[in-house]
Amino acid sequence: MAAWLSSCALSLLLLQLSIQPSPLNAIDTLAVNQELSGNQKLISENGNFALGFFQLAEASSGKWYIGIWYNKIPGQTIVWVANRENPVSDPALSSLAISGDGNFVLLVNHSKSPLWSADIKNNTAANSTIVLLLDNGNLVVRHDSNTSGVLWQSFDDFTDTWLPGNKLGRNKKTGIIKQIISWKDRGDPAQGMFSIQLDPNGSLQFILQWNSSVVYWTTGNWTGNEFSGVPEMSPANPYPSSRFMFQFVDNDEEAYFTYNVKNDALIFTRTIIDVSGLFQTLVWAEAQQAWTDAFTKPKAKCSVYGVCGEYSTCSENDASPCSCLRGFSENHPNNWKLDDRTAGCRRNTPLQCANNGSVKVKQDKFYVINSVSLPDNAHNINAKNIHHCELICLKNCSCTAYSHSGTCLVWYSHLMNLKNNIDGSSDSIFIRVAASELPNSRNNKLWFIGTIIGGIFVLSFGVAILYCLQRRRKVMNSLNQGDRSLIRFKHSDLLLLTRNFSERLGAGSFGTVFKGVGSETTTVAVKKLEGFHQGEKQFRAEVSTIGNIHHMNLIRLLGFCSEGVKRLLVYEYMPNGSLDKHLFGSSSLSWKIRYQIAVGIAKGLAYLHEECRDCIIHCDIKPQNILLDASFVPKVADFGLAKLLGRNFSRVLTSMRGTVGYLAPEWISGEAITTKADVFSYGMMLFEIISGRRNLEHKDTSMETFFPMLVAKKLLEGKVQAVMDKELINGVDVRELERACKVACWCVQGNESSRPTMGEIVKILEGVIDVEMPPVPRYLEVLAKCSENVEFFSYETADWTAYTRYTARVHGDAEK
Ligand SMILES: *[C@@H]1O[C@H](CO)[C@@H](O)[C@H](O)[C@H]1NC(C)=O
Ligand SMILES: *[C@@H]1O[C@H](CO)[C@@H](O)[C@H](O)[C@H]1NC(C)=O
Ligand SMILES: *[C@@H]1O[C@H](CO)[C@@H](O)[C@H](O)[C@H]1NC(C)=O
Ligand SMILES: *[C@@H]1O[C@H](CO)[C@@H](O)[C@H](O)[C@H]1NC(C)=O
Ligand SMILES: *[C@@H]1O[C@H](CO)[C@@H](O)[C@H](O)[C@H]1NC(C)=O
Ligand SMILES: *[C@@H]1O[C@H](CO)[C@@H](O)[C@H](O)[C@H]1NC(C)=O
Ligand SMILES: *[C@@H]1O[C@H](CO)[C@@H](O)[C@H](O)[C@H]1NC(C)=O
Ligand SMILES: *[C@@H]1O[C@H](CO)[C@@H](O)[C@H](O)[C@H]1NC(C)=O
Ligand SMILES: *[C@@H]1O[C@H](CO)[C@@H](O)[C@H](O)[C@H]1NC(C)=O
Repeated sequence: MAAWLSSCALSLLLLQLSIQPSPLNAIDTLAVNQELSGNQKLISENGNFALGFFQLAEASSGKWYIGIWYNKIPGQTIVWVANRENPVSDPALSSLAISGDGNFVLLVNHSKSPLWSADIKNNTAANSTIVLLLDNGNLVVRHDSNTSGVLWQSFDDFTDTWLPGNKLGRNKKTGIIKQIISWKDRGDPAQGMFSIQLDPNGSLQFILQWNSSVVYWTTGNWTGNEFSGVPEMSPANPYPSSRFMFQFVDNDEEAYFTYNVKNDALIFTRTIIDVSGLFQTLVWAEAQQAWTDAFTKPKAKCSVYGVCGEYSTCSENDASPCSCLRGFSENHPNNWKLDDRTAGCRRNTPLQCANNGSVKVKQDKFYVINSVSLPDNAHNINAKNIHHCELICLKNCSCTAYSHSGTCLVWYSHLMNLKNNIDGSSDSIFIRVAASELPNSRNNKLWFIGTIIGGIFVLSFGVAILYCLQRRRKVMNSLNQGDRSLIRFKHSDLLLLTRNFSERLGAGSFGTVFKGVGSETTTVAVKKLEGFHQGEKQFRAEVSTIGNIHHMNLIRLLGFCSEGVKRLLVYEYMPNGSLDKHLFGSSSLSWKIRYQIAVGIAKGLAYLHEECRDCIIHCDIKPQNILLDASFVPKVADFGLAKLLGRNFSRVLTSMRGTVGYLAPEWISGEAITTKADVFSYGMMLFEIISGRRNLEHKDTSMETFFPMLVAKKLLEGKVQAVMDKELINGVDVRELERACKVACWCVQGNESSRPTMGEIVKILEGVIDVEMPPVPRYLEVLAKCSENVEFFSYETADWTAYTRYTARVHGDAEK
């Protein structure tokens, strides 16, 4: 009777399953004789995760996968996929169940053999087996009564995601090494090219690999406390990633690394290998309703091996880093659109050499790409000179490119990992294409005829003024074209543009700035440098480095002039002028804009410090050096100039009273100057952005009213709003205010290792990572005193040995 009842109940349940759309909702368990099919889901106990069939918006329809996603987050962020290689066409005809022999299987079209299985063998108690979706995103198969005996779990079967609490490493008994493998592209969870795992050779480091063969990044060995290459992942690191906990375990049974989040609010944290090979920790930002990255390695997108595939170039500066070489087009353009560019590009026109044999070698031509870092697998060839090198390449039909700087390098077949727009690189590469891909001589003739006619035109009018206008237009056209190469101006051009340097915009540490007007739409700022005495060649080298730096929050250098002793720089013009005029002037910036400015400046500096080829220390961060464009987007000005000025910079500093209060203590104390000196100055400026007043402005400034001191104390008392008592700012957001105050206090710590990096500052300000309460910075007391007694800060008596050492270091190369 009882047996009949239960089997009746079971068939009722089964009946329900097939009729009701989702009767399993809010149930986290699948038992024997139950199946998950169609749009049914398992939901974990607290509702964090869901398991079911899904299809991807980016893919063509009719491809369904079974997987786990965040149940509470809009959109569908998949953390695990069972059948990543084998989609099913119809979820209604597919079912996930425990098979008769106790395996966990995905069955399709009522077929007996599973499309996917968890490969559980010798399950002696098949009838008591259950599948359970846990609240940490782990899907567990075990016996009903035995909570510790796990038969299988999705945490052991990584796809591209590593969730908090899961272990990534090696089981020393079985020898199995877990690895995370990227998706192929955003519309296809099948295995892609990139993976991370504990080094299979036995060293204690994680390695990122391309195609399971080429290592393109490693964490560095475990030192006992941290991975040598990523100290921020250290279990002992209390700051500023204090919301994460890390643990590395190496015992007789296993070696693994795991991470966790201290704060439940951060349960929505995941670490992935994304489709472009980056290893990232992402945190769900509730305010922005988006995933924001808390950790990304490698820093340089282009150092991911093969990220752009073959016959393409990679450039760090652009949002989409890859582009095909001239004469080539995208292989699988749809995959390119979905960020999988690993298939690279293919020739538009086959090499004529390959078609016609070596007799017609003339049918192929080369074009040059400058400032590159050369691709892998070059062959070193003996050649007399560059022409000989070219000839050797032309003669071999499988040669695709050559380069000649001292030695002759040639490439056979594929070109991989070619990077362009490399700051300061003098390497060039010559790419071989069918002649028809390059403009032929007929165009040149047209151009020639055009020039003659143009010449006659100019001559026939022959008026000097017209010529001048023409010249100015030419200059302005080159400015307008958005061409990234620097323009070399004649001094006479600049006289014309600035109308004999008549309209002065301001004077900075390095010289006077004038407005230059070319046409109604084009305005530039021309800076006449003072005190620059180095040679033409060195000047040009430095200027070209600066000119190669492109970032939203860094002022763009358009061109330069170097004639005799005259040195001028031409920059984009910022209609809203410098930050100090707005902060300390009569107009009051809203809180929103102030915050936007603080984040923007941090982004610009983070780029200078961390993402350029050679790290650039600004050395002179202050509101006068922050310019604002028409929509108040901040741009850092004068970067790279401290280096350009070299030893003379100390003289500039000593004569600059305007810099008091922004300089880090190490400038005076004799320690070496690092990027943390800029962090200090940024912190001081951030106090001013918050308060809208100069820190050292008022005569009555004392320990009690010195704004940074006030902030540090109020923060500790938990009364951060109190710092805004005097300043009524539109729409101040208390959470942002607290973040900004904390950041500023951390920045001005006397000990530079306590100060965060600019990259961390960006993340803290954006709310992606949290930061502990800062201690009251000791150095503020010194500064507060010094504002009572400015003589304390006498630069004439300061110890400049540190500075001299610093400039000697940055000029090491130039003087060699
Ligand atoms: C299941 O059946 C459908 C329709 O009959 C078919 O298109 C599909 O290929 C089948 N799937 C498998 C895995 O056999
Ligand atoms: C499973 O059982 C078979 C036969 O009893 C045995 O040969 C095999 O070694 C067992 N496998 C495992 C993993 O225990
Ligand atoms: C599992 O249960 C089925 C009936 O539901 C029964 O026929 C079978 O013998 C059971 N198997 C084991 C190993 O207990
Ligand atoms: C639970 O499973 C584990 C691992 O399979 C096993 O070692 C243990 O004896 C089981 N406990 C019970 C009570 O069956
Ligand atoms: C592992 O060893 C092989 C063979 O010695 C070597 O080619 C490979 O580079 C090593 N891998 C790493 C990550 O050191
Ligand atoms: C890491 O450790 C391995 C052996 O454990 C050693 O061969 C290798 O040189 C180390 N790598 C670095 C960068 O120290
Ligand atoms: C990746 O490696 C496999 C096996 O080593 C090889 O067959 C395949 O050609 C490689 N893929 C690419 C794009 O080089
Ligand atoms: C050889 O080159 C000529 C152009 O010079 C081209 O028209 C012809 O198609 C090529 N031969 C083959 C087999 O492609
Ligand atoms: C071209 O170079 C490749 C690689 O060195 C070589 O194998 C091939 O024989 C060469 N072909 C000719 C025609 O010289």
